[in-house]
Amino acid sequence: MTKITIAIDGFSSTGKSTVAKQIAKHFGYVYVDSGAMYRAVTYFAMQEGFIDASHFNVDGLVEQLESVNISFKFNEALGFAEVYLNATNIENEIRTLEVSNFVSKVAAISEVRLKLVEQQQALGNQGGVVMDGRDIGTVVFPDAELKLFMTASAETRAERRFSELIERGDAVTYEAVLKNVQERDYIDSNREDSPLIKAKDAIQIDNSHMSLQEQFDKILTLVNTTLEK
Ligand code: DC
Repeated sequence: MTKITIAIDGFSSTGKSTVAKQIAKHFGYVYVDSGAMYRAVTYFAMQEGFIDASHFNVDGLVEQLESVNISFKFNEALGFAEVYLNATNIENEIRTLEVSNFVSKVAAISEVRLKLVEQQQALGNQGGVVMDGRDIGTVVFPDAELKLFMTASAETRAERRFSELIERGDAVTYEAVLKNVQERDYIDSNREDSPLIKAKDAIQIDNSHMSLQEQFDKILTLVNTTLEK
């Protein structure tokens, strides 16, 4: 059976990665979390002192990108691939609200995008890939056989993200998470390079009032219909 490319774009915390993982597992496809790659570069910039709570100055970051080697390793126990920066597993470190607060600004840097898009295209060039992000259907895989664009209200998304962070044991408030969701929506949608927009041929799915099962069933039907074409 031919293996297709599935591009899932949308706002933050719309459940893209949850459904992308489910679909990848169902079809034996590779799942790539492109947001994790932007988070890894942000984490690197924080480690190297370009960014902290009181300052954001990324002058010189681009020159250091050569030493940023991002890879994914499948974790059997978790059932998905974790992200590594050079030899270090940083899957947990990149999910903090602190990284979320800076990642959109780092993702707006064209040289960062250039490097990561190239790597994303190489990861998916054989087909059989589900990739989620902001520009997958518009820039990374404009010829993807199936493109989805996920949305939900900012409040719904903040509630989901807040619960996830609390479950991890992070000390965050709902208000801070909502502010982060709204700020990232704005920066991701308004940046000059590869802004978050719905590709013309993407199917929009608003999952504000959908259960995970309903969402999976709907997308599974869309994938099967695409495979039958
Ligand atoms: O999917 P996420 O929330 O983990 O992504 C983190 C940030 O990375 C997001 O706010 C914008 C950026 N991003 C991007 O610019 N392009 C992508 N393809 C994926 C993520």
